[in-house]
Amino acid sequence: MNNRDVMLNKAKEHFGKLVEEQLSRIERMKEDKEWVDYKSLKKIIIGVCWGDGIGKIISKHSERVLKFMLREEFAQGKIEFRTIEGLTIENRAKHKKAIPEDVLKEVKACHVILKGPTTTPQEGDKWPNIESANVAMRRELDLFANVRPVKISKEGIDWCFFRENTEGAYLLGSRGIDVNEDLSVDFKVITEQGAERIIRMAFDFAKNNGKKRVTVVTKSNVIKTTDGRFSRVAKRIAAEYKSCGIECDEWYIDIMTAKLLDPARRRDFEVFVLPNLYGDIITDEAAQIQGGVGTAGSANIGRKWAMFEAIHGSAPRMVTEGRDIYADPSSMIRASAMLLRHIGFIERAEQLDMALEICSQFEKRIVITGRDNGATGEEFTTYLLECVQDPVLVKKWKKFAGI
Ligand code: IPM
Ligand code: MG
Repeated sequence: MNNRDVMLNKAKEHFGKLVEEQLSRIERMKEDKEWVDYKSLKKIIIGVCWGDGIGKIISKHSERVLKFMLREEFAQGKIEFRTIEGLTIENRAKHKKAIPEDVLKEVKACHVILKGPTTTPQEGDKWPNIESANVAMRRELDLFANVRPVKISKEGIDWCFFRENTEGAYLLGSRGIDVNEDLSVDFKVITEQGAERIIRMAFDFAKNNGKKRVTVVTKSNVIKTTDGRFSRVAKRIAAEYKSCGIECDEWYIDIMTAKLLDPARRRDFEVFVLPNLYGDIITDEAAQIQGGVGTAGSANIGRKWAMFEAIHGSAPRMVTEGRDIYADPSSMIRASAMLLRHIGFIERAEQLDMALEICSQFEKRIVITGRDNGATGEEFTTYLLECVQDPVLVKKWKKFAGI
């Protein structure tokens, strides 16, 4: 065989293996039907992974908030907090694994995870170029739905993004091939089952929350096969929900990013559902509109486990510049509110969400700037916990926001 044939065979073999793996994954998805029922558990175990960079500090503030909100259940032994220490970049680099085996075991022994941002290595930095811990955890625990709400009550914005969280450009993001010194190929995957489960979740959310519209975002005019399938599945499912009064429209990702900046149109959107990478990008934009990526939380939901985190990274620069104590914990506290809601404490989740809006968008008695001209994360957390308990302030806020 000449060199070209050797290369071709290697590429074909690689592709064949990926396809085989995906066919098996589809079979597993077909069998997976059961959802964990938190109400039936005697004790819910919340695993806390601090992560890297500012993660170490904002996770502690969030854990403090959760311990406060769940103080009764914690005292009664109905909730356990478990610290999982090994998800640091140092430990992951040492094992050259996105999530070392023993850490994954500890994670799987919990019911839900509160996770601080973790460093994602890239070629050329000081760490081995291992896969992102986020991406690995989403895949290993099959956390297929990434739910990211963005709310600006005074502008009438109440968005909820349903980002497909395991497939798309991410699933094989670390499994592309350099065919030779000139050619690199990555693989993007959309399955019927993977698309259906996230799209259905978005429509169910719309139905259960009085929403009238679900917006599907793709680039199916160009990425015809995978995005094409996503769009086709969305149309099929939309037809089922028509009788519930839910409309469905499809936008391309490029114009959607523009429309989010259009104050005259953007409040009309309610629920979004989109493949992984588009969801990654647009939720940063949406969070920025809300007040910065530091203000948005993220729920990674699967049938058996769920993980809650900030939408942003570990901001190592804040640590090297000694600013980590000024990092805004709001994103992780929002994620903590999502965790509360997910395990059944809906009223308390709403209290916490409201307190976050009061502190960052209304009263603003203590302001975080990320620098020493603002409050520390600890001061902000104390302020937030005061607001959660202040009925007069909540009343004023409701009047202001028109709720
Ligand atoms: C996010 C983050 C992650 C992602 C990174 C850290 C791998 O940007 O949660 O949005 O790309 O999904
Ligand atoms: Mg992102």
